[in-house]
Amino acid sequence: MGAPGAFDVIVIGAGAAGLFCAGLAGQRGLKVLLMDHGERIAEKIRISGGGRANFTNRDLDVRAPQRHFIGGNPHFCRSALSRYTPQQFIELVERHGIAYHEKHKGQLFCDGSSQQIIDMLLAECAAGGVTHWQPCSVGQIGFAPGEGYRLQTGRGEVRAPRVVVATGGLSIPQIGATDFGYRLAAQFGLRVVPPRPALVPLTFGGEDWAPYADLAGLALPVRIATGSKKARTVFLEDLLFTHRGLSGPAVLQISSYWQPGAPLDIDFAPGVDVQAALADAKQRSRKRIANELAGMVPARLADAWVGQDAALQRPINEAADRALSALAERIARWQITPSGTEGYKKAEVTAGGVDTRDLSSQTMESKHPGLYFIGEVVDVTGWLGGYNFQWAWASAHACAQAL
Ligand code: FDA
Repeated sequence: MGAPGAFDVIVIGAGAAGLFCAGLAGQRGLKVLLMDHGERIAEKIRISGGGRANFTNRDLDVRAPQRHFIGGNPHFCRSALSRYTPQQFIELVERHGIAYHEKHKGQLFCDGSSQQIIDMLLAECAAGGVTHWQPCSVGQIGFAPGEGYRLQTGRGEVRAPRVVVATGGLSIPQIGATDFGYRLAAQFGLRVVPPRPALVPLTFGGEDWAPYADLAGLALPVRIATGSKKARTVFLEDLLFTHRGLSGPAVLQISSYWQPGAPLDIDFAPGVDVQAALADAKQRSRKRIANELAGMVPARLADAWVGQDAALQRPINEAADRALSALAERIARWQITPSGTEGYKKAEVTAGGVDTRDLSSQTMESKHPGLYFIGEVVDVTGWLGGYNFQWAWASAHACAQAL
């Protein structure tokens, strides 16, 4: 155990951002203590990307990285993300001999296991001589000018002139997520943007959802949109029907932008002119409408949509033009309003967090001198697909350079 004052910096939270920052700071010659209350290290990295960690995204545009991030100030993340790029992290991964592959839209995953990324970060910490206290609870944190920070911990009191908070968001409380970072920020007079679940499945009222519950397990590519005309957000991704609502990449992505009470617009046949295709089929086919529609969307969806209207239970050549138009409209512009989200238990990340107006975008230092916030605890939330880890690496790097 280090004697009081023996450390230059204490990093709280040994997840993605904390581990990376501690290793880099240690390698710069600082004496670093890394603390975490969890029994196991970096649980979120372990479970990420289905156990293979989608550790970065090659499509991140380093000249305009804010495109893939949301937050009170979308430009806040630019400095850190352009100074530590996906390519730099890829080079680190390659130096550690970790094999990887690109899956979809620039997303990079380990060929093997996410444990390789954890082992890499631990090796970087070892190279920096980082001291680990884990599991170790952190209680009161006091500050006195000239003396720095004094932490009461499960292993006694420890002091340092600088503290880095890397305790993440509220997602997945069952593996150790807490509101520690937000409470600490408030204690030191920093503003916190109210946290909310993001990259999360959306739910729908029981009765409203009953007609669609049988579709659970169905996945299909869609165009999904929300927001007003002026602030429209659109994703072209796969959607998944579940027993309680909607999930899949399309829905996780749009959930970060969705405002309670707002509808979603879903096009189940993006790129297909359903109205024209049905009108054409009417001229040349005697098949049932559901069978014709099944050429444009999965048969289960076609059956469910056609099943909602008695006027559509017939061969297409006998259907009224108006009924076919209405069907096409409901396939291309299905509007439905979620009743809520699956919450932090299922959310991949937490939006909101320590207000970026109270942090330096260059160093991640807060308005309270010597107190830094990095990673998901900050009000910066990335898209699905490796962007959140890249923010963890980049914010940790910006901080470590400044310590
Ligand atoms: P992180 O959550 O990693 O670490 C916080 C650490 O602080 C934890 O070790 C915790 O125990 C510790 N801590 C919390 N409270 C504490 C307290 N009071 N005292 C002491 N320690 C405390 N992202 C991505 O880019 N690609 C992906 O593939 C995935 N996949 C994915 C899957 C699932 C299921 C989830 C839940 C999340 C993802 N993510 C992801 C998101 C990604 O995991 C997340 O954004 C980063 O881990 C955030 O890194 P941080 O270091 O900020 O927090």
